[in-house]
Amino acid sequence: MRSIAETDLGTPASPSTEQISLTIDGQPVTVPAGSSVLRAAASLGTQIPRLCATDQLEPFGSCRLCLVQIDGMKGYPASCTTQVAEGMQVTSQSAELARLRRGVMELYISDHPLDCLTCPANGHCELQQMAGAVGLREVRYGHDGANHLALAKDESNPYFSFDPAKCILCSRCVRACDEQQGTLALTIDGRGFDAQVVASQKATFLDSECVSCGACVQACPTATLSEKSLIELGQAEHSVVTTCAYCGVGCSFRAEMRGETVVRMVPDSRGAANHGHACVKGRFAIGYATHPDRITRPLLREKISDPWREVSWEEAIAEAAARFRSIQARHGRDAIGGITSSRCSNEETYLVQKLVRAGFGNNNVDTCARVCHAPTGYGLKQTLGESAGTQNFDSVMQADVILIIGANPTDGHPVFASQLKRRLRQGARLIVADPRRIDLVRSPHIEAAWHLQLRPGTNVALINALAHVIVTESLVDEAFVQQRCDMQSFERWRRFVADDRHSPEATESITGVPAASLRAAARLYASGGNSAIYYGLGVTEHSQGSTMVMGIANLAMAAGQLGRAGVGVNPLRGQNNVQGACDMGSFPHEFPGYRHVSDAQTRQAFESAWGVPLQGEPGLRLPNMFEAAIDGEFFGLYIQGEDIAQSEPDSQRVANALRAMECVVVQDLFLNQTSQFAHIFLPGSSFLEKEGTFTNAERRISRVRQVMRPRAGHADWQITQMLSNALGHSMHYGHPSEIMAEIASLTPSFSGISYEKLDRLGSIQWPCDARHPDGTVVMHSETFTRGLGQFMVTEYVPTEERVNAEYPLILTTGRILSQYNVGTQTRRTANLLWHDQDLVEIHPHDAEERGIGANDWVRLQSRSGATLMRVQITDRVPPGVVYTTFHFPESGANILTTENSDWATNCPEYKVTAVQLTRVKPPAQAVPQ
Ligand code: SF4
Ligand code: SF4
Ligand code: SF4
Ligand code: FES
Repeated sequence: MRSIAETDLGTPASPSTEQISLTIDGQPVTVPAGSSVLRAAASLGTQIPRLCATDQLEPFGSCRLCLVQIDGMKGYPASCTTQVAEGMQVTSQSAELARLRRGVMELYISDHPLDCLTCPANGHCELQQMAGAVGLREVRYGHDGANHLALAKDESNPYFSFDPAKCILCSRCVRACDEQQGTLALTIDGRGFDAQVVASQKATFLDSECVSCGACVQACPTATLSEKSLIELGQAEHSVVTTCAYCGVGCSFRAEMRGETVVRMVPDSRGAANHGHACVKGRFAIGYATHPDRITRPLLREKISDPWREVSWEEAIAEAAARFRSIQARHGRDAIGGITSSRCSNEETYLVQKLVRAGFGNNNVDTCARVCHAPTGYGLKQTLGESAGTQNFDSVMQADVILIIGANPTDGHPVFASQLKRRLRQGARLIVADPRRIDLVRSPHIEAAWHLQLRPGTNVALINALAHVIVTESLVDEAFVQQRCDMQSFERWRRFVADDRHSPEATESITGVPAASLRAAARLYASGGNSAIYYGLGVTEHSQGSTMVMGIANLAMAAGQLGRAGVGVNPLRGQNNVQGACDMGSFPHEFPGYRHVSDAQTRQAFESAWGVPLQGEPGLRLPNMFEAAIDGEFFGLYIQGEDIAQSEPDSQRVANALRAMECVVVQDLFLNQTSQFAHIFLPGSSFLEKEGTFTNAERRISRVRQVMRPRAGHADWQITQMLSNALGHSMHYGHPSEIMAEIASLTPSFSGISYEKLDRLGSIQWPCDARHPDGTVVMHSETFTRGLGQFMVTEYVPTEERVNAEYPLILTTGRILSQYNVGTQTRRTANLLWHDQDLVEIHPHDAEERGIGANDWVRLQSRSGATLMRVQITDRVPPGVVYTTFHFPESGANILTTENSDWATNCPEYKVTAVQLTRVKPPAQAVPQ
């Protein structure tokens, strides 16, 4: 069932600009060509009874309830599958239509349990509503004949139940799974009386291919598929529109509430990023917010070996401020710093960097975006002039060729992946460049034209080879380049990539990608129509992350694949607010809006707004803070919403650095790995407990709205404000909208943003300013932000992390759908059912060579450390490469990763670690040295 607050217009909106006029029950109406009669009637407020139709799915015409009469047409056509025509005259209500509809409803009801009063859908069931709408008063066939009323429920899924006795075979669930989600897990099995909805080959939902996106549950007009939370709590009484706090897709949801209890999360059909779709995390995995592990009182201790002591907010804040000031008095102003989080809102992030710059008086602020997309910011700024992706997600529906590099959208960005798969099913061609065979390479109705299965760490050699083909086979869009790009830089780059050493044949031995495949892929990208690049952490988390981002931008400029719908360079941002964290000035060298701290004019603007002198020198990056701590020069850190002890590379070194500090203040929901080293713990608030905004991977700013009070009494922005006031730098915001007003007044690309406008428009893609008052959908459409596009020479430099006889395998890392990053949230939900430990994938040859069998435990040893994991033997990874997720602290994948990092931004090289695997006994007996 769709949200309590949404109206269903029966069939999807038609995109046509042509208008058609008709009359329905004598009332004139004008609608876009291609609209259904059902939708045209709905636009007049005429509700034609229907069951199998919904505006989220293509019309199907199976229930025969929406029959109408149309002048000049024989019989009683279904209004959901009949398109409007000029001058059409429709009758939606007549005695004969009523008789026919009642007959249809009688058949449905005769095989439907009449337990409406105790049914979870009572009051919101479309079958119930339709029985009322057609005036059903009796069921002539009774309930005594053959029926399906005794069919067993499937309760296997932790979040929804399937009660086939209530199924009316409208197939909305099947179509939702096909059309919206693209998993194709459901079918109607059998015919006639024996027909029933089944998952996979008659498996339970849990054992089937189902990925628990919930689209079928939302589509079901009856209580056949129902959220268990709805069954348990009853119908909601109000709803609040907010934004998912997991990934960078930024799905919009209606939180359906009973008081301060979330009954269910229903993706908002008006959400511009998700159009009413969601994944298992955003829709279902919110139980962490009310988990008993939540810390709700501030904690304090002298030494990290002491037990925690619950204290008042006043004491905790005063103590944090006193300790920070004491460190500065003894070791200098620069001996402390702060870490912002991509999980927190724009307003919270802005306040943390303000606290550091204005309150601490230095620029020692950094963000977890350092460890994911910092190279995106750098690389795109150098080439295109703006540190952000170029398109909106909907742009993919106009792409003819889609090149995915180092990203796994079906796991990492599932709702965007569903949209992308829809476009692929419509015929767009796909190129995947990834060491691992991700699901998109081959899945139902989808097959990549080319899978460039490169060796980890050879991205730049690959992008240069793709560019070589484009340049040497006359595939450059010369007109675009001449008009839009800096010709001097282009000629230099053209000479560079044209060199024979960059040819696919010459680089084959480096990348492992057959030259013929690479040539074919390059030709397809350059000449297949609109070509769009989507990339992820497989591009950025390398020692040449920034080089690769620039290589991608070079390729897109050379092929003229920028500046319009259907093309572009699109980083798939990992966390909900990575884009926002970067935009808000979380890096030590930049003020909000990517302006260098050395820029006197910008600095003056902030100095005059904040009333304090500011430093013009960049502060310490996170790895430099660690280094300085180990060297005895850095002593205090304020960390908001980031578990650096687990998420940073080379965990041992991070632990040593944190241990060396005098005052570590952690502000978070749970006691996490980092809090083991903390002296003060400030309990934070979940996204359900606060107001603010997130900015997704499309640069789309969306509102986060409070649905329950902060469990610990204060939203995160209020905690930062209290700390700032205690430090003597006064902040007096009454609401996050006031923080956004300050951001807008100081940041040109946000100058047109306000909460009032966000509430009015729903969401806005920055830049939003006087020239673009409603935001910017596609960037660089006339000129690049920097003026002329700048080609950068991208020399391939092999990583220092090399395999050898001792460490012969390359470990690379990634995410899985059901878990999220370090798992702090998802591990505290039923998502554990799908993935309760990190596994290391190994190719059958490599496993056999080491005597490793299925499900064996292995010791992974790198130059940095060792850990234990269970193996999964699979040919998804090529020989020589092993792969793991990093969601569980016990496996500690980052114990293995090295200190190597991107040359420009210090983004860690998570994706390439030389390791050895050896079979061990299960962990109780085998502990790493
Ligand atoms: S939950 Fe999603 S994936 Fe599973 S059957 Fe329903 S629509 Fe398909
Ligand atoms: S489960 Fe629901 S949506 Fe699917 S066919 Fe049955 S009634 Fe229709
Ligand atoms: S795709 Fe991302 S933003 Fe959307 S519901 Fe899933 S986790 Fe949330
Ligand atoms: S709603 Fe038109 S046939 Fe079912």
